Amino acid sequence: MGLVQKLLTDPRIEALVKPELAVRSLLMRSRSASFATRLFWDGFDRPAYAYGVYQAAMQARMLGIGAISVAELGVASGDGLVALERIAGEVEDVTGTEIAVYGFDTGTGMPPPRDNRDLPYAWRESFYGMDEAALRARLRRSELVIGDVAETAPAFAAADRPPLGWAAVDVDYHSSTVATFPIFDADESRLLPRTLLHFDDVIGDERELHSPFAGQLAAIEGFNRSREQRKLAKVHALRHKRIVDAPWHDQLFVLHCFDHSRYGDYVYDAERELPA
Ligand SMILES: C[S@@+](CC[C@H](N)C(=O)[O-])C[C@H]1O[C@@H](n2cnc3c(N)ncnc32)[C@H](O)[C@@H]1O
Repeated sequence: MGLVQKLLTDPRIEALVKPELAVRSLLMRSRSASFATRLFWDGFDRPAYAYGVYQAAMQARMLGIGAISVAELGVASGDGLVALERIAGEVEDVTGTEIAVYGFDTGTGMPPPRDNRDLPYAWRESFYGMDEAALRARLRRSELVIGDVAETAPAFAAADRPPLGWAAVDVDYHSSTVATFPIFDADESRLLPRTLLHFDDVIGDERELHSPFAGQLAAIEGFNRSREQRKLAKVHALRHKRIVDAPWHDQLFVLHCFDHSRYGDYVYDAERELPA
């Protein structure tokens, strides 16, 4: 590969074309930038986690709910869960909302695929193994729930804990994603009126080729088809509100619980009137 070709395919060159990426990268390494500044510029290694957990904690605060749960469904070696713990601590500090952190995984990597909707051309049994002891040693505050989500999700849905405000759904398969849905069918006391969700496996690389007929997108479509009062929907035009364009804008969904008794409760400080 020639020098020019090498330069042009270096990911760092992107920061020259899109200066906001250079700002983001500086803020990711900053020790002094505020949470608000980093949130604005996506200055986190998991900006979707920071955005979602913060929005959930703010929703809870405006509703007078003192504590929420957040969860990573699909943990693997644990980098996401460790990042989530860090973000939860920062969000607690800036919002005053207490946050209980949970992580769910088989502990032994991907189970066998059920059928072609699990996209076995992209994922295989036992991918993403976990060294459970090593991960537990890294964790500071999470509850790690080991087992198939087909068994652990119904138990979590019914468990006595703060309402779920945010979750990363990162179990890859269609079948595993469907198995998490009891959490979203839970009693309203276990959910915020609008729980924010990050569905990781709706984009992927060029060979994953996601469509609404398989994988997580099909699971989401199936959820919406079979429920009247609960719907999973992307935040319309989210990217217009963000300074750094990023794939997570298309991975962020909200579970709207239209049957939640607090769905219509006002979530702003003051009246939203236009200036006279
Ligand atoms: C891509 S990895 C998760 C990566 C992690 N979220 C991160 O960002 O660091 C997917 C994980 O989902 C887990 N998984 C898939 N199906 C599952 C199921 N039915 N029950 C529990 N865990 C499952 C696998 O064990 C695997 O570790």
